[in-house]
Amino acid sequence: MNTRILAGALATAAMLAFAAPAFADTDLKIFVSSQHQPDVWRKVLDKYEAENPGVKVAIETGGNTSEAQAQYLNTVMSAKDTNLDVLMLDVIRPAQYAAAGWTSAFEGKDMSVYLPAYVEANTVDGKVVALPAFADAMFLYYRKDLLDKYGITPPKTWDELAAAAKKVAEGEKNPDLQGLSFQGKAIEGAVCTFLLPYWSQGKNLVENGKLTFDHDAAVTALSLWKGFVDDGTAKKNIAEVATDDTRKEFQAGSALFAVNWSYAWTHFQGAESAVKGNVGVTRLPALGSGEQASCLGGWEWGVSAYSTHQDEAKKLVEYLSSEDVSVFMAANGSLLPTYADAYKNDEVLKAVPWFADALQVVETAKARPVTPRYNEVSEVIRTTVNAVLAGVTTPEDGASQIEARLKRILR
Ligand code: GLC
Repeated sequence: MNTRILAGALATAAMLAFAAPAFADTDLKIFVSSQHQPDVWRKVLDKYEAENPGVKVAIETGGNTSEAQAQYLNTVMSAKDTNLDVLMLDVIRPAQYAAAGWTSAFEGKDMSVYLPAYVEANTVDGKVVALPAFADAMFLYYRKDLLDKYGITPPKTWDELAAAAKKVAEGEKNPDLQGLSFQGKAIEGAVCTFLLPYWSQGKNLVENGKLTFDHDAAVTALSLWKGFVDDGTAKKNIAEVATDDTRKEFQAGSALFAVNWSYAWTHFQGAESAVKGNVGVTRLPALGSGEQASCLGGWEWGVSAYSTHQDEAKKLVEYLSSEDVSVFMAANGSLLPTYADAYKNDEVLKAVPWFADALQVVETAKARPVTPRYNEVSEVIRTTVNAVLAGVTTPEDGASQIEARLKRILR
C-alpha cells in the first residue's frame, strides 16, 4: 500500500472510531471461585463474547476456599473498587453483601424459574440481589471397586461407614488408604462438617431468627468426628484438611470415603484421576436412626454496586444464570443445576448419571443460618470444630463455646 492510501485509510479508521461509539469495547471483569471450574466458565464467556461483539470478559480468581475468597472480596468492596463488575458469591453471602450495599438489585426478574432455595438466598428484603450460578450439596463419595470387593453396600449411617472402613482397612493393609476424608480445617466447609450430624438429630441452629442451639446434639456431633480421628477411620491430621484436599486425596486413591460437593466428580473422572470409573456417590449417612441430612451450598452472581458497567454486567449475569448455561456447567463441570428440569437433561445425565438422584438431595438439603453477621457465626463454628479435631478442645467444651459465642452474635 502506498503512503497516500495508507494515510487515507488511517484517517477513515480514525473517523469511524469517533463516529461510532456504539462499537466501543466494554471490558468486564468477573470474579470466579477458583475451585469451581474457571476453565469451563471461560468457554461460556467465549460464547458470550462471540454473540456480543465489543464485549470482552476477563476472569479473575483468587483464594482456594470460600472464606479466603470472601476475605479478598471484602477488601475489594470495602475500598469501593470499580475493577470487578461481577462477583461469584457463596450462597451464604448475598445477605451480607446486600446489607453492606455492595451489590446492585435486579428489577423485574422472574425468579420462579430457579429452585426455591436459591430464590430465597438471593432475595433480601424483597429485592433480588443476585442470580444463581449453580446449586450445591454435600454427598458421600465412595470407592465402588473396594466396597464391591468386600461385599459392602454403601453405608446409610455413620456407624456403618466406620465398620466398612475397618473391614476394608483390615483386608487391604494399606497404610496410605484412609477410611474417610472430610473437612476439619477451620474453613467454611467445617461449618457444614459440624452441622451434618447436628441436623441429623433433628435439631436446628436458628429458627425464625432465634438461636435454637441444642447443647447435647452439638456434643454428639463434635464427638462423632473426633471419634473418627481416635478410632482411625480418619487420619490424625484431619484438622489440616480443606475441601480441595479431600478432593485430591480421594482422586489419588487414598481414601475409601469422602465427604464433598458436586464439583469433585469431574475431577474424579478426569485423565489424571487414579479412581476413574470406580467412584460411587450417595447421600450422606445419618447419625443412628436420624435423618440423612446434607448441607445446602451453591454460588450466586452478584453485580458490584461499584461497577461502571451496570447494564452490561447485568446482561452478562442474566446469561450466566440461564438454563442453557446451567446445563452446560452441569455436563462439563459437574456443577449442580439451579433449574429442576436440567436434572432430567440427557446431556447432563450422560456426563453425570448420579445427578438423576441429586435434585432430591438439593431440595432437602438444609441451609446454614441466613444473617448479615454470617461471617461471625461461621468463624465461631469452624474454629471450634478445628480445635476439637486437633485435640485442643473437648467436644463438651467446644459445644459450650459455640453456644456462648452464638448467643452473643445472634441475640
Ligand atoms: C461449596 C459450597 C459452598 C460452601 C463451600 C464450603 O463450595 O457450594 O456453599 O460454603 O463449599 O467449603
